Amino acid sequence: MYKSEQLALSLQHLIETGTWKAHEKLPSLRQQVEISGFSLITVMNAYQELEAKGLIYSKEKLGYFIAENPVQAALAQKVIVNDKIEINSIVFRYLKSIQSEKIVPLGSAFPNSQLLYSSKLMQTLAHQAKYRVGYEQMPSLPPGNYELRKLIAQRYCMQGIPTDPSDIVITSGGLDALNLSLRALTQSGDYILLQETIFYGAWQAAENLGLKVITIPEHPEYGLDLQAFKKAIKTYPIKVCLLMLNSHNPIGFTVSDEIKFELAKLLHEQKIYLIEDDVYEELYYGQKKPLSMKYFDQYNQVLHCSSFSKTLGAGFRIGWVYAGKFSENIQHLQLMSTVSVNSFIQNALADYLSHRHYDKHLKNLRSTFKRLKNQYYQYLNQNLPKDCKVHAYPSGYFLWITLPKTIESSRIYEEMIQKDIGIAPSILFYRKNKEQNHIRINCSFEMNENIKHALDLLIDHVSDSE
Ligand SMILES: Cc1ncc(COP(=O)(O)O)c(C=O)c1O
Repeated sequence: MYKSEQLALSLQHLIETGTWKAHEKLPSLRQQVEISGFSLITVMNAYQELEAKGLIYSKEKLGYFIAENPVQAALAQKVIVNDKIEINSIVFRYLKSIQSEKIVPLGSAFPNSQLLYSSKLMQTLAHQAKYRVGYEQMPSLPPGNYELRKLIAQRYCMQGIPTDPSDIVITSGGLDALNLSLRALTQSGDYILLQETIFYGAWQAAENLGLKVITIPEHPEYGLDLQAFKKAIKTYPIKVCLLMLNSHNPIGFTVSDEIKFELAKLLHEQKIYLIEDDVYEELYYGQKKPLSMKYFDQYNQVLHCSSFSKTLGAGFRIGWVYAGKFSENIQHLQLMSTVSVNSFIQNALADYLSHRHYDKHLKNLRSTFKRLKNQYYQYLNQNLPKDCKVHAYPSGYFLWITLPKTIESSRIYEEMIQKDIGIAPSILFYRKNKEQNHIRINCSFEMNENIKHALDLLIDHVSDSE
């Protein structure tokens, strides 16, 4: 973060918390230089940024003053209506470009598959193939294999979320769960709320379904900006929110229980449904698994979507939605589209999960991701130019990097892909209304010579672009 942004943020905090009242005079530029220790140019930039946000105004020769209604002004510029979404073709081109085996997979959304396919899982699959027959049968039609749903329901119960197998619908991966949930709850033209930076699948779903998207920015400290959230739901007729609150992709933050609790209250007050994308729920590094919004949901307003893609393999295409009272509706939609999820794999995963291999596997996976992410963080943090920021959150396998504002991450991506190295540029995750100066790096691969070489090239490109 630039020094001027840092100063602007701390002044903004004073304004938003009411320390300075409307029309009160701010310290002059020179006074602010003395107070803050920053240079005159930094202070000028910070004041101009606050002015552009409508938080302060200037009077010639008199200085800067607090705006009439600074809190409203700040929130208004944070909540954005995204009327025309055109992300599908960008995502399509991007996914095609990183598909080849020769591309170094730093831009991949998938974890290193070698860490996922444990020998126990392979044995279970082989056993299923050898001894079981008759997979093309009714029990795997929607809502999906009963045993698998029972085991998933047990995992919710273990976290204090009362769940019956009938609440769960098995889907073709997490993305299918998100799409089906959105289709069940919305119609074309409805307003939905997304985080400003979010997994591109959410943008794609909104584009496909013709939804109007309101976005709120991430809070630099808490992940979710509750004030902006309140402003958005009170201003727009939002029907559904689609949020990621645990191990957010691409940024990585996890929102606190206190904020989740408040969020659940607001959803109830405003009668808004939440589709919770929680496909990284198992990839925390702490002692305790973060709670999902489902835990705080007393009124059946949360459809919790998850999958085994990030822990056992995306190729299995097995996910689920805790659909509760929407189960039947979602099954209807499934029977009109994908019909059924692969029954062989459902059987095999039910078998695997029933033997408690999964938790052991998850423990190993978490500690490997933690080790690798830390290595990548150290390397990039030491070697990228000092005005880059590598965000380090304790979960998952992505690093989110802020480049200087003058560097467009799509250009870095184009240069790197010419050299057979993939990185994920920010255009995949947020709209064009702010600087596209972020990249996401996948850290789930051992840092061998090949990866190190790719990281060095990235560091060189960023340094040369300054
Ligand atoms: C945040 C998020 N949600 C959903 C998905 C889709 O998961 P699945 O592969 O299970 O469909 C992904 C995949 O990258 C993701 O990152």
